[in-house]
Amino acid sequence: MGTSTYLDFLSKLGIGGAHPGGINLTKQIFETENINETSRILDVGCGTGQTAAYLATQYGAEVTGMDINPLMIEKAKNRMAKHQLPVKIIQASIENFPLKDEEFDFIISESVLSFVNKPASLKEIFRLLKKRGHFFANELTVNQQLETINEEEIKQFYGLDSILMEKNWIDLFEQTGFKDIKILMQQQSTFQNNSMPEFQYSEYSDTELYKVMIQHFNIMVKYEGVLDNRIFSCAKL
Ligand SMILES: C[S@@+](CC[C@H](N)C(=O)[O-])C[C@H]1O[C@@H](n2cnc3c(N)ncnc32)[C@H](O)[C@@H]1O
Repeated sequence: MGTSTYLDFLSKLGIGGAHPGGINLTKQIFETENINETSRILDVGCGTGQTAAYLATQYGAEVTGMDINPLMIEKAKNRMAKHQLPVKIIQASIENFPLKDEEFDFIISESVLSFVNKPASLKEIFRLLKKRGHFFANELTVNQQLETINEEEIKQFYGLDSILMEKNWIDLFEQTGFKDIKILMQQQSTFQNNSMPEFQYSEYSDTELYKVMIQHFNIMVKYEGVLDNRIFSCAKL
């Protein structure tokens, strides 16, 4: 992972539900799935663990959350302890995650794959998923090819190595071996549909962080209609 001012900001403010649509969209993704106490679910790049906690509470499922950032891990662990949830929280990189093959029935990534080495991470996700398991990805897309100067502005601020269009994501999923790739619940506007994220501040606060937040909202407004997200559903047969 390269350096990302934006990810640093998210972890320091302990922002949960830091993905388009927030926790409400997460709930909708799982609503129609057949999940129970025997289901094993992995939340890749779980951040402060909002989604992982929801899945454990709502379905009693066996949930694991993983993230590379120590501050996020600490906040996710605190959340599980506070609510006495038996969710495993592991610090690691999804580019190389030391768990056995075919461990999970469902894997979800919410605004994570854009920040990592995509082919390496998808290979790991595919390996960790059981046969007939499903992978959901709520990830950043662009609706049109960007001018280089604009692409650089976005890549630099968020710390991304590339910004993909919907079809590029589908190609990547197919190359990894996923089948039955679908797009779920296409939204109208990433910005307008965002539910308010949740904050778990670190003890100190610093004005730099607020500048980052304003820069993030400025980019969202500037690229409204261009920067978007998709929810992909991918199967391992
Ligand atoms: C935009 S945040 C989203 C967090 C969470 N999924 C949510 O929706 O609130 C991206 C997350 O990906 C994590 N991340 C970045 N690179 C990673 C990697 N190589 N392996 C695992 N997690 C990573 C960051 O630490 C951060 O928590």
